[in-house]
Amino acid sequence: MLTEEQNRLLTEVGPGKPMGDLLRRYWHPVAGVSEFDKKPIKAIRLFGENLVLFRSLDGRFGLVGSRCAHRGSNLAFGFVEEDGIRCGYHGWRYNLRGECTSRPFEETVAPDRKLKAPKIDGYPVRVKAGMVWAYMGPQPAPELPDWETFSWPNCFVQVVMAEIPCNWLQCQENTVDPVHFEWMHNNGPQRRAGDTGPLSPKTLDLAIEDFEYGLVSRRYREGTDKTTPLWSVGRAVLWPNGWYFGHHFEWKVPIDDTHTLFVTWAALHVPTECEPYVQATIPTWTAPIKDERGDWIVSHVGNQDIVAWISQGPIADRTHESLGASDRGVVALRNRLLEDLKTVADGKDPRGLIRDPAKNVRIELPCVARVELMNGLLKAEMLKHPVMGPFLREFYSMAGQPAAIKEEFERVMAVKQSTLDLPTFVPR
Ligand SMILES: [Fe+2]
Repeated sequence: MLTEEQNRLLTEVGPGKPMGDLLRRYWHPVAGVSEFDKKPIKAIRLFGENLVLFRSLDGRFGLVGSRCAHRGSNLAFGFVEEDGIRCGYHGWRYNLRGECTSRPFEETVAPDRKLKAPKIDGYPVRVKAGMVWAYMGPQPAPELPDWETFSWPNCFVQVVMAEIPCNWLQCQENTVDPVHFEWMHNNGPQRRAGDTGPLSPKTLDLAIEDFEYGLVSRRYREGTDKTTPLWSVGRAVLWPNGWYFGHHFEWKVPIDDTHTLFVTWAALHVPTECEPYVQATIPTWTAPIKDERGDWIVSHVGNQDIVAWISQGPIADRTHESLGASDRGVVALRNRLLEDLKTVADGKDPRGLIRDPAKNVRIELPCVARVELMNGLLKAEMLKHPVMGPFLREFYSMAGQPAAIKEEFERVMAVKQSTLDLPTFVPR
């Protein structure tokens, strides 16, 4: 249980708030590169700031404040140029750093006059793994992590975005809470489907440990013991707002105090008989979180998590809780964030930042099925694999995968998903 002040400290992410300042010290994925093939400008809100993310005609990305310095018109309604973006109202042009580089009428009437050029906010952006990453903290920026999985060859990758109407922290608390798999992803769906048979194996123990880039979450269930990779290797909770499953990353990026951008990066190695495979473009799609009747979607694993987060309220009230042994990870996460707030207030780097470029080369993370996920399997072996088989059958992470992406996946994997006789994915 937290005090009101602690809950505010951990959840307020707007400009000038300590947690917002802490989170801004990390690179965050904020869009898919392929989104910009259709439209080069995207209005985006991050950490309580209204921004525009754009790809200029020379192919570089920029992230600047949305408000034109002239009279406040929104640059999202402007257009991109060779090295920046122009306001659609009077043609004021800004470069990638947000510096105004042209005011057409002023230049026409007084070409010799040197006016002090106004500036709007501009933030560094980088492209990696099919995503656009933003850094909104103080300089110098740390390294943008080069996780090894981003370089695994022969993988079909997709990026899924969803806007979640609640605070970032309750989304991230989910990652350090392994008991929820048993109830949220196994027993709940089973019972809601009318199956009153025995419940899924009980979680017997869990452990949370620090590692260089965050926390490792371990657990084992009835029918297994501590030799299971879910205990001996565990899963990586990437600091401060990520999660890694081997074939799948998640990040929870604050939009503002009560909205979060949920980003999923999911990869599947093609059957080895389909190699070599080089993906021309990583597709990006936005997942719905409600169905056509307006009900929350609970058919897919990520959607099940989302309803848990949203149902805790716009900002979870942590002053009225009954924490127990299952919440060891949640407590560890909160305590380490509170420690990091002190560390930053003392002028030091918070945990998990990478400063040494020599170290930032294909960093390997704890991964329960690394060898097969990275190197691939024959299709016949994949179909029997507990993670890869079901993923071949269906994109179980989030509902609403566009038909064109499903078709491309089937072509690349040389499968017809509807004909695969496989059980539905059971999260472990
Ligand atoms: Fe979950």
